Amino acid sequence: MATAVVVDADYLKEVDKARRDLRALISNKNCAPIMLRLAWHDAGTYDVNTKTGGPNGSIRNDEELAHSANNGLKIALDFCEEVKSRHPKITYADLFQLAGVVAVEVTGGPTIEFVPGRKDSKASPREGRLPDAKKGVPHLKEVFYRMGLSDKDIVALSGGHTLGRAHPERSGFEGPWTKEPLKFDNSYFVELLKGESEGLLKLPTDIALLEDPQFRKFVEIYAKDEDAFFRDYAASHKKLSELGFSPPSSSFKATIKDSTVLVQSAVGVVVAAAVVVVSYMYEVRKKTK
Ligand code: HEM
Repeated sequence: MATAVVVDADYLKEVDKARRDLRALISNKNCAPIMLRLAWHDAGTYDVNTKTGGPNGSIRNDEELAHSANNGLKIALDFCEEVKSRHPKITYADLFQLAGVVAVEVTGGPTIEFVPGRKDSKASPREGRLPDAKKGVPHLKEVFYRMGLSDKDIVALSGGHTLGRAHPERSGFEGPWTKEPLKFDNSYFVELLKGESEGLLKLPTDIALLEDPQFRKFVEIYAKDEDAFFRDYAASHKKLSELGFSPPSSSFKATIKDSTVLVQSAVGVVVAAAVVVVSYMYEVRKKTK
């Protein structure tokens, strides 16, 4: 059973500290790609029909970590455990998604809004919910539609392969997708449209993005326009990171906002009153001189 998360001022402080910690760790270890892959694999098991799976920290369960799609992700989990040991209040589910957001940010990608409050779950879905890189267009659509995501989300999120590489001992594939695998940019789409390129990888699921007209339309836009890619990527990544998640209390945010407005108005009134008093005293002094 998942336990509820109270997103109060202390929790937000912990999230902020964990974010700083992750920034330092990801930059020092150059581990942005595998941290992003961890976040995606925790979230990408979501089933919109049964409302199971999703970004709930369940990838840390031995059973799920042993799914073949997750080969190699123990490395990223161990990095996250380091952060969790320093900031134990934050849930694994939040921590993994925060790691994904920070990985994109520190490699030069767009800022992705992070809303905390995900619950941890010990229930893992059965193997087979993540996409199989050897398959084509119908499979990609089936898997991502099951998550509740769209064709646009599929293409934008595939742009995550701007980071990192495949490792033969993990997936059977080899090499990076781009010439600078630690830089988040739109080069994945530029390379995809160029076709075969010495030393660069194209999975069958990457090539599928050129074959379907609905997909290809976005590949062409993103290859030409990095701003459009960043904008859509940030929106799709946020969606992925919040599959099946509804923030526990939006009231806290509202409270902060409301009290800020109240404080601002109070300051305004005090300043206005001070101005009136000072000018009155000035007038009085002038008259008495
Ligand atoms: C569209 C379906 C997808 C398939 C079939 C797929 C498949 C793969 C495969 C086979 C690898 C190589 C793993 C290894 O050998 O280490 C990989 C790596 C990676 N994937 Fe995907 N992926 C998909 C979507 C995504 C998405 C949506 C993201 C993030 C938004 C993502 C992010 C990454 C990253 C960052 C790596 C590099 C990891 C590293 O360098 O260690 N992938 N993916």
